[in-house]
Amino acid sequence: VLDIRKLYGQSGKFTYDPGFMSTASCQSAITYIDGDKGELLYRGYPIEQLAVQCDFLETCYLLLNGELPNKQQKDTFTNTVTRHTMVHEQMQFFFRGFRRDAHPMSVLVGTVGALASFYHDSLDINDPAQREISAIRLIAKMPTLVAMAYKYSIGQPFVYPRNDLSYSANFMRMMFGNPCEEYKVNDVLVRALDRILILHADHEQNASTSTVRLAGSSGANPFACIAAGIACLWGPAHGGANEAALNMLKEIGTPENIPDFIAKVKDKNSGVKLMGFGHRVYKNFDPRAKLMRETCYEVLNELGLQNDPLFALAMQLEKIALEDDYFVSRKLYPNVDFYSGIVQSALGIPVSLFTGIFAMARTIGWIAQWNEMIADPEQKIGRPRQLYIGAPRRDVPSIDKR
Ligand code: ACO
Repeated sequence: VLDIRKLYGQSGKFTYDPGFMSTASCQSAITYIDGDKGELLYRGYPIEQLAVQCDFLETCYLLLNGELPNKQQKDTFTNTVTRHTMVHEQMQFFFRGFRRDAHPMSVLVGTVGALASFYHDSLDINDPAQREISAIRLIAKMPTLVAMAYKYSIGQPFVYPRNDLSYSANFMRMMFGNPCEEYKVNDVLVRALDRILILHADHEQNASTSTVRLAGSSGANPFACIAAGIACLWGPAHGGANEAALNMLKEIGTPENIPDFIAKVKDKNSGVKLMGFGHRVYKNFDPRAKLMRETCYEVLNELGLQNDPLFALAMQLEKIALEDDYFVSRKLYPNVDFYSGIVQSALGIPVSLFTGIFAMARTIGWIAQWNEMIADPEQKIGRPRQLYIGAPRRDVPSIDKR
């Protein structure tokens, strides 16, 4: 590699750091993670306090503006978000263009990107007021789009947002209500959804957030950037993990099968991973996983599913893995997605929509990070270098000599 570099006379120095293992791609004042301590702070506030004392929209306000809202600021913000929950009627035609069995993430990549074609009045990224209204639109419309993707997939009519409900209650109604009946809100389930959203709201420079920043660094509009983030989130090593973790639990089936499954995970040739375990930054525990496990208890109790076999299996699997040297020596602990699939399932959310819920939650993190980047006067286009390992310079042979 070095010879080829000399050959080409590549000048200057740069680091070769696949996977950005030790490269900070930006500075940010939004989210702090201490992987060794298992600590997660949004704007300095511990996730454990936010998850208990705040709702999702207060968390959004905090991430976007840097401070928690007072009562009046919270009411104004909530009203503003609420006023933007509707999507343009034309959006229905976008949905109708998809196959009914399309994966909701592909529908979201398409429809969120399409929002740019409806909001020409907020595409000037150099205007802070336009950036703000784009952020509000995205936070407000994501639940509507996710619920529409679901309703379309099951052939039911779309349910329009109802603005007297909280953010999470409105989403539950758009998902599980129908236009002909009153929807009965269950506060425990709504609170559980709100907690899922808070826990997934931001996580500093993860793959999808870095994707949003990189896309945004070229000056692309915010709707296109968030669509790029959704595409990245879809992968099983990232947001797709909650879906993969639940499928894994179903595949294991019963506790007797755990040892065989763990043996498969340890066999590097099997390609099998313990989904919902491990994290690039948390090497002690993921504080979100603990809160999610608590929420799991609350939801299953509320629904009378205390003996839910998948939950029992998950706890057993966690216990066995945490006593196993393979996982201990590699510092592999359950991450937030290990339990979030069980909670979402109990809420009635289909497995294929789990990552869509994650996208709905992470939209605030993406847009707050995008906004922070654009507002930075030193912002530059993201343009990583590479170590070239291909052929040295050569001449093109004529076709009869190839
Ligand atoms: N199951 C089994 N072994 C694992 C797992 C796992 N889930 N995760 C990591 N390992 C092993 C690796 O094989 C490697 O072993 P080795 O040292 O013998 O080669 C070692 O642990 C270190 O793992 P890396 O792959 O280097 O860790 P990295 O930081 O690159 O990966 C990741 C982190 C992608 C999250 C990984 O742990 C993983 O794939 N986990 C499963 C998917 C998952 O749950 N993703 C959700 C992440 S959280 C989120 O997005 C909200």
